[in-house]
Amino acid sequence: MAGLELSGKAAFVTGAASGIGAAVVARLLEEGARVVGFDRAASGAASGGGSSASAVRVIAGDVTKSAEVAAALQAARAELGRLEVVVHCAGVTDDAVVWKLDDARWRRVVETNLDGSFHVVRAAIPLLRAEGGGSIVLIASILGLRGGFGSSSYAASKAGVIALAKSAAAEAGAFGVRVNAVAPGYIQTPMTASLPPAITEMARQAAALGRLGEAGEVADAILFLASPLSRYVTGTCLRVDGGQCMGY
Ligand code: NAI
Repeated sequence: MAGLELSGKAAFVTGAASGIGAAVVARLLEEGARVVGFDRAASGAASGGGSSASAVRVIAGDVTKSAEVAAALQAARAELGRLEVVVHCAGVTDDAVVWKLDDARWRRVVETNLDGSFHVVRAAIPLLRAEGGGSIVLIASILGLRGGFGSSSYAASKAGVIALAKSAAAEAGAFGVRVNAVAPGYIQTPMTASLPPAITEMARQAAALGRLGEAGEVADAILFLASPLSRYVTGTCLRVDGGQCMGY
């Protein structure tokens, strides 16, 4: 992909240690951006993104802790000198039918996926505004659009992420800050690796493209939303699902 105009841009990526977040880090570096990561599984460097990604510092922290998120964003800006792109990939799932979810399981998913997104958006907007604008990309899911069996906490949290992105976009647009979400379908990452083969096969059959997605394919869509190529795009939710969930 040429001409993304991300060269030299300063970016902060959560969930940088695995899956889609690691792929975003790798693609940003390929495009010449400068990146600081954030992950509770941080071992000091992003993994899974090739040799260049291992050069990126990943701050250890938990997105459910608002102070840790705010401090990490400040540290990233101090390290990079400015901040223009924030991509929030950290998330978890914990599937069970709704009547079998206890409070702790429900809260862990909603706190990570929805409260975590709130913590990132709230801390990032003033920093991007100070630069005259920027782009925030949140990760929802097609389950946040249509729900899904065994996915009540996850789907509810991701529906909230979409509404959060739209509301924050309405509020921050006047400052040149864009806020968008992507809604991936079933993507092959460590998150989905332990799902039953029957679920995997159902997702593959649902995809108009006849296959499951890869982390790098979601990363490419995220890079479009992070880049100036999408400068008139805000408050949207872009499905990246190979046609698994058409009609939403
Ligand atoms: P993954 O499990 O490979 O990576 C998630 C990363 O988030 C891990 O590095 C983990 O350590 C980090 N993380 C989790 N909780 C955290 C916390 N409290 N604080 C800081 N870091 C935390 O998963 P994957 O697939 O890369 O998922 C990335 C995002 O994409 C998630 O938001 C997920 O919900 C979303 N997504 C994934 C889909 C898939 O099929 N893989 C489909 C739709 C959405």
